[in-house]
Amino acid sequence: MAYKHFEAIEKHAGLLGIGIAIMVSLGGLAEITPLFVEAHSLKAPPGVHPYDPLRLAGKDVYVREGCYLCHSQMIRALRFETQRYGHYSVASESVYDRPFQWGSKRTGPDLARVGGKYSDDWQRMHLMNPRQVVPQSNMPGYPWLAGKKLDAADIQARMRVLRKLGDPYSDADIAAAPAAVEGKTEMEALIAYLQGLGIRNEADPAAAPASAGGAP
Ligand code: HEC
Repeated sequence: MAYKHFEAIEKHAGLLGIGIAIMVSLGGLAEITPLFVEAHSLKAPPGVHPYDPLRLAGKDVYVREGCYLCHSQMIRALRFETQRYGHYSVASESVYDRPFQWGSKRTGPDLARVGGKYSDDWQRMHLMNPRQVVPQSNMPGYPWLAGKKLDAADIQARMRVLRKLGDPYSDADIAAAPAAVEGKTEMEALIAYLQGLGIRNEADPAAAPASAGGAP
């Protein structure tokens, strides 16, 4: 009896298509719904702090200039990646990244743990004109960043919005922001951001299994 019903579906491509669509949707929901629920309960591990005002400004420059189009910030749990870049990325490291900068294109190297790899001077020369320090580089230069000053009021507004979204900035943090970015250029902010990557927001080693290897 039941077999007859299936026969009707199997012999009608349209019906079969609808049946497949329903099943795929159910499967998709089962996969996606828990992730949405989990995203809200994800807490910053100790050692991961909201961006200080200068780095926050630098992160905005990074997004605005489209650095993510050539650089990922997501080290995969594969030995050749962890040997090159350090400990693989974990989701909780990115809790304060809105939007996250995992990226999917690597024309240049992954930057998730580039903080401290080079000096500030190297970063400045590299951003002014990458070929000064890496002759074969095809990364564009960003010399105009050195001539643009940061807007203190703007950074306070950003911190207030991020606080509404759950980032634990205090009134004192927000009040102190203008002094922290006073007189600084977008170049300085971007360098501060890069130099903090993987350092100020390091993974909690206890939270990740050591067996995948490559921990710095
Ligand atoms: C067109 C692609 C492209 C874009 C856009 C780009 N980069 Fe790069 N980047 C590269 C390539 C290729 C390299 C490797 C060669 C080199 O070091 O210059 C690199 C290297 C780097 C490095 C050194 C990484 C390491 O581990 O040696 C840093 C830091 C960096 N880029 C930052 C940035 C920032 C910040 C931006 C945005 C302002 C940016 N890049 C935009 C292609 C790009």
